[in-house]
Order: sequence, then structure tokens, then C-alpha cells
Amino acid sequence: MLDVRIRDGMVTEIGELLKPEEGEDVIDARNAYVAPGFIDMHVHLREPGNPEKETIASGCAAAVAGGFTAVGAMPNTHPALDTPELVRWVQETAGRAGLARVYPIAAITHGREGKEPADYNALAAAGAVAFSDDGSTIESAIAQTSAALRARESGRVFITHCENAAIKEHDEFDSAAETTAVERDVAIARATSLPWHIAHVSTQGAIESIAAAKELHVACSAEVTPHHLAFSRDDAAELGIPSKVHPPLRSAQDVAALRRAVRSGTIDTFASDHAPHADHVSPGFSGLEIAAGAYAYALPDLPVRRYVAMLSSNPARILGIPGGTLAVGSPADVTIFADRDWVVDPGAFHSKGKRTLFAGKKLPRRAIGTIVGGTVVMQDGRVFARSAQ
Ligand code: DOR
Repeated sequence: MLDVRIRDGMVTEIGELLKPEEGEDVIDARNAYVAPGFIDMHVHLREPGNPEKETIASGCAAAVAGGFTAVGAMPNTHPALDTPELVRWVQETAGRAGLARVYPIAAITHGREGKEPADYNALAAAGAVAFSDDGSTIESAIAQTSAALRARESGRVFITHCENAAIKEHDEFDSAAETTAVERDVAIARATSLPWHIAHVSTQGAIESIAAAKELHVACSAEVTPHHLAFSRDDAAELGIPSKVHPPLRSAQDVAALRRAVRSGTIDTFASDHAPHADHVSPGFSGLEIAAGAYAYALPDLPVRRYVAMLSSNPARILGIPGGTLAVGSPADVTIFADRDWVVDPGAFHSKGKRTLFAGKKLPRRAIGTIVGGTVVMQDGRVFARSAQ
């Protein structure tokens, strides 16, 4: 058992039986795990544009409540995050909230219209850590390729939402919509050498494409959501909760393939696709506050080391952001979690979005402490803001 000492926002010492020094607070994490801060690289914070669904502040409160010290904020806001000014505004607003770190992901195309490439160098200089038109798939392979070629200089990863619109329109649940779109994007990733990340993978075919691309040393990575890992379409009817989401819930065979891909490493990271809505018909679920427990619910035998890597070092590496380590000298972003049963009550969410397929479910794991830059921002479910950054 080791102790971690934090001072001035940094990890300063790790060792056995460290002695508390004067003025230091001690957090007793016996019977719990102390991990590098969890990072959720796929979160919809809804601002600017839809504060009735979520604000940056309410989304950040949900993040730290769920054990996340940092989130990647998706650009399908209104307007879309396609200018340096908007990227800076998101960071400043998150700084004022003083909770989780927020890393803006800017749009690939102007207005997320799938046509004109955004100004990647300017967006990266403003703080965008990645580019994505998430929520939509760029239909034109030429537009996608020309965007990727232009983005290379920025050194930032593309994160793509892979659903072929024509197949989906024909049959909303046809897994070929995803599989064909992933095949196309890994081919473009290979041709352009741009680092590429496939968002919310849900089909066996997509996993096969990603595994094949990795064999060829294509710089690609992939994420999986709690809902796609835990539930198949057969479960959806039984749950009695509106389960519309993009991509949709899949077959039991796909779910089994996703779980295998987490174990084998074909899938690199967990990401909640936190998608809060103010109604009961729009697609998506509130994910931040169930995620840490839901991954353990879906994969009870996943080694804790791999679980932690999927939530910290891997997303940090994919986005090229700090975090994912508790090495001495690194920022003190820490998640404390415990293997403790709890029952999901969406009414208690900090998020404004209350819809989740996990409502009433007993989950086997929960974050019990969140520390960002050395400040405790969540302890036993209570959320405290840091002073404005
Ligand atoms: O179900 C979804 N909802 N999938 C997405 O890709 C976007 C998200 C949203 O923003 O609501």
C-alpha cells in the first residue's frame, strides 16, 4: 500500500507510510484505489447554444461527481466550435466553473456541414486538442481526405462519427452503416498518416477493420461507450427507457465482440458520449455519472490496471494532453474509486440530463473522490468548486 503526497497542485512524493506534514490534509483511501485522474474524451457540454440541456458548469459538476478530472468537449454546439474565439470561450467558461479540466474539440468542417475545412492551425493554437464533426459523418470521402491532409500540420487527431447516412436511412439498425464508414475512415487515416480515433464503436465489423488497421501500424484508436458495452438491442425493449442513440444499440454478438476488443486492446479507451437532453426523444444518454460503475458492470473481470489505463493514460495519449500518470512531478489529478455497490438514481445527477439506461441498476464500482490540480473537487458525492482559474 502506498501513499501519495500532493503539494502546490503537483504529485511530490509516493511511498510507503508517508508522514503527514504540518498543514496537510489526509484522505484515507484504504479499501479503495487511487488512480491517475479519469479522462472522458467524448462529452457533450451543450454550450454555447443549449444551456437548458447542460451548461459547461453543470457538465463539469457531473464530470467530477463521476470521477472525471478532465473531459473532451465535443463541438456540436450552437454555433459549432469552429472558431478560435469559441474555443477560447469554452476554456474560459470552464475555468470559471473551477471543476474538471475541459479540453475543447473543434469542428473538422465549418458549421459541421461536412464541406469546408476549418482553420486547424488557428484552432489548435487556441487550444483545440482534436477535431471532430461528431454527431454527423462527413459524407464526402474527398472532403474528409482533404480535411485530413490540411490538418496534418496541426498534429491533432481526428475523431470521427462513423455512420453511412444512406444505409442508415434505409435501415436504422443495419450495422453495415457503421462498418462501411469505419472501413472508409481507417483507409483515409492510412493514406494521410493523420492520427485517427473512431468514436463510439458499436459493431463487430468495425472492430475487425480497426484491428486490421492496427496490424498495419495505422495510427488509429477507438473508444466504446457504457451503453454499447452493457446492453444489446434485445435488452432495450425490456429496459422500458427510451433508448434512441446514435449509433444504435446492437446485437448480443456485437456486444460480445466489443467486450473482447476491450480485453484484447483493439479498443483503447472508454468514453461515455455524455449526451444530455431536456426531452425524452432526442438521441443520447447522460453518461458521466454512471460511467465508472457501468464499465465495471459490463466487464466485471477486467483487470483493474487495464480499467484504469482505459480511463486515464490511454485517453491522455490519444489526445496528447497531460494526465494519465501519478508520477512525481505530474499535476495532481487523481481519481479515488472503490468496489462498492450502489444504485443509480438519475434524480441525483448533477447533469441536467437525467436519461440513462442504467436508472435503477446496481453498479459494482464508484468514484468516491476526485482531485483536480491538487484540490478536492468531489468527496463521497459532494462537489466543491476550485477557486476560479
Ligand atoms: O446519440 C447521440 N447523441 N449520438 C451522437 O453522436 C451525438 C449525441 C448528441 O449530441 O446528442
